[in-house]
Amino acid sequence: MTSQPALSARYPLDLPAWSQLTSEAKKMRQLDIASLVKSDRQRYERCTARAADIVLDFSRQRLRAGTLRSLVSLAKQAKVEPIRDAMFAGQTINNTEDRAVLHTLLRAGRVGRDHPLADQARGVQSVLRGMLKFVDSVIAGEHTGVSGRAFTDVINIGIGGSDLGIDMAGTALAHVGSGLNLHCVSNVDGTQLADLTKTLDPSRTLIVVCSKTFTTLETMTNAQAARDWVSQSLGECAVADHFAAASTNHAAMDAFGIKSDRRFGFWDWVGGRYSLWSAVGLSIALAVGSATFRELLKGARVMDRHFQSAPLAENVPVLMALVAVWNSHFLGAETHAILPYDHRLARFPAYLQQLQMESNGKSVRRDGRPVRTGTGAVIWGEPGSNAQHSFYQLLHQGTRICPADFILPARSSGASQVQQDLAIANCVAQADALAFGYSEAQAYAELIARGMSRQEASELSRHKVHGGNRPSSLLLFKQLNAHTLGQLIALYEHKVFVEGVIFGINSFDQWGVELGKKMASSLAPGVADASAAGDASVVARGALATLRKWRA
Ligand code: F6P
Repeated sequence: MTSQPALSARYPLDLPAWSQLTSEAKKMRQLDIASLVKSDRQRYERCTARAADIVLDFSRQRLRAGTLRSLVSLAKQAKVEPIRDAMFAGQTINNTEDRAVLHTLLRAGRVGRDHPLADQARGVQSVLRGMLKFVDSVIAGEHTGVSGRAFTDVINIGIGGSDLGIDMAGTALAHVGSGLNLHCVSNVDGTQLADLTKTLDPSRTLIVVCSKTFTTLETMTNAQAARDWVSQSLGECAVADHFAAASTNHAAMDAFGIKSDRRFGFWDWVGGRYSLWSAVGLSIALAVGSATFRELLKGARVMDRHFQSAPLAENVPVLMALVAVWNSHFLGAETHAILPYDHRLARFPAYLQQLQMESNGKSVRRDGRPVRTGTGAVIWGEPGSNAQHSFYQLLHQGTRICPADFILPARSSGASQVQQDLAIANCVAQADALAFGYSEAQAYAELIARGMSRQEASELSRHKVHGGNRPSSLLLFKQLNAHTLGQLIALYEHKVFVEGVIFGINSFDQWGVELGKKMASSLAPGVADASAAGDASVVARGALATLRKWRA
């Protein structure tokens, strides 16, 4: 493990800005969002910031100019800028895995010969060229399956960072599809693949095994099942033509039988949840075409430039991170909802769950000391309009404060604008309803106006109260396409990074997923055989005994 004193920021609690924010939070208890908005006609202008094509509107957050100044000081004092620069420069900021963090280089395009990362950048471009050449030839029907017929379907087999980004981007950009249908298989229980293979023609199906390590249990189990499906339907010799892979583990790809011209590598400095920009994006590129994949990279690149160059007070990922820190640490929110108003972003909340929670779900700082504040919030969400008819009840009237990001494009990504206009109206109305609420007096007056008796109106109006003062932000942009999606993803990557820097944690390791994996492998023999339950706990043995009776 590398120790980098320059990156060991002080505890946020010990920073002067933290004390300012603590007293600011006390004062803010007297103020609500409605009065903040009412008292400042310029609030929308003051509380919006733009990064490339995306506008962040944080006017419905429970903060004022002084709060924002202290939050920006917090970012400064926590050394967000030098640590950001260290990341882009390729320093080993992932100290517990002894790695640089260079997913931004994957989308940086060509760099000059004198660039400090010129060698790595050349490697990136070379893999990208090879991968997109393969993609073009599959789409053109030149690279075919064993029968000589063009592929119609692609199955991506991977999990976590080797699945979620592919599924999310493939769904988001389905409308600019290449003609190949993308399917994602991840879960170890095998039902996804079993259901899928019933509907697909193996002779027209290309399978991409996507795994940084090429050892992940779920992925290798599904890959083997897919291999059996192909070899039983088309013969063992078909495996070479029907499989491609993205991995850093060349020996394992060899052992699986992946042909050398159908495998694409990447590097240990690409973290799993930051990897869709690398060869891990192969299935995305197959689904949307190489030009669209390049647009996705370019979108992320413009967001990287903004993050690197905008002053902290105008830097959208920084502002989003600061608002999140304010809501969770000073206003007591424990979760954060992601609510997109374009259904094509249906998988975006799931994608952000891994990005945020695997990155910032930590209790120990990068220097090994325990954190003394909370860290990342619980992320959750669903496409907006559906969610209005589901969990928004709790957002409006529940006892918990759940800050939310509403993600709202102006134009439909492919249906009628009339319908997108309805989505816009719904989204903005929800944000206002959360912020400004609806008082008992308003409810009572409305019920009386509708002809209800005083007695009934008085009883019912209590149930209709919306307390308001519930914070949310809007992320506004013109339309969902590869360029804006690239921006959106990079925006959240950097937001997560800034939060991690403020907490003083390493956002790029994931030791917390290891224990469960290890215990599952020692427990696995005990599922079928009681005598092989190893050192499983007494309660685990009990559950296995119950299941064992039913599984036979
Ligand atoms: O279990 C966590 C994890 O390591 C993620 O970080 C990663 O995205 C996923 O597993 C998949 O790993 P791999 O790409 O090596 O199969």
